[in-house]
Amino acid sequence: MPAEKLYAIIGHPLGHSLSPALHNWAFGETGHPGVYMAFPQEPEKVAGFFAAMRALPIAGANVTIPFKVEALRQVDGASAVAKRIGAVNTLYWRDGRLLGENTDVIGFMAPLQGRRFASALVLGAGGAARAAVVGLQEMGVPRVALANRTFAKAERLAAELGCEALAWEEREGFACDLAVNATSLGMKGAREAESPVPASFFKGAGLAYDIVYTPERTRFLADAASAGWETQSGAAMFVEQARAAFALWTGLEMPKEGAYALVREALAAR
Ligand code: ATR
Repeated sequence: MPAEKLYAIIGHPLGHSLSPALHNWAFGETGHPGVYMAFPQEPEKVAGFFAAMRALPIAGANVTIPFKVEALRQVDGASAVAKRIGAVNTLYWRDGRLLGENTDVIGFMAPLQGRRFASALVLGAGGAARAAVVGLQEMGVPRVALANRTFAKAERLAAELGCEALAWEEREGFACDLAVNATSLGMKGAREAESPVPASFFKGAGLAYDIVYTPERTRFLADAASAGWETQSGAAMFVEQARAAFALWTGLEMPKEGAYALVREALAAR
């Protein structure tokens, strides 16, 4: 039997990440000899993790908040998307070099494959909005606008990425056929009943894409569905970012149906 390889996720706090369960399941399914462990890291200890990654070596890793920007500085090379977004969430090895990818962008785009949109509105200006805007630009969506409660943040991100910035009050009047919730509104907890747009926002036809995935059916998606819009839950983005990382590490495909079933079941139990 080949020696087991170690894979890791680092972040602070890591909370109840689904990544270890998903990747360990997929190692078992595919027969890849891997074990995936969570390493919550204090920010001041993060340099030690990257040293360990090279010394042990750890065969692959996911990087989450707040280390994604630092990870881009630590790698020997990074993909064009990772450089453009300024952050790395997946570390992998090629020919002795530690490389960085941003599979959040790949995961965001996966459920939109083969679709065309004329105009997209991204709500929010944090890390999730950044992945959405870069993904939409990669897909060649002709018009991408960003609206955020704090306008200065929308303006800054829009200027950096080369898209439009909208004032929060202007979002309702913006005509689009793709609306992306990249705010934390609708997430299980205090803001679960809220949506970043009023129900009257959903005019004509379009696709509402929520990056929030707990719950799977948010207020934003429920309002969109009631108005006849298609909906896309963030669970797909989570599964697809993991499938993209798994492929980089193993050269194998993480079985799709089983991965979605595992994530749905784990989310439903939360
Ligand atoms: P992430 O990196 O996961 O996107 P974040 O950086 O905390 O998370 O971003 C959360 C987003 O939700 C921000 O765009 C935030 O808007 P502000 O920049 O104005 O804070 C948005 N958000 C949070 N609470 C909100 C609320 N009550 N109304 C509107 N937007 C809200």
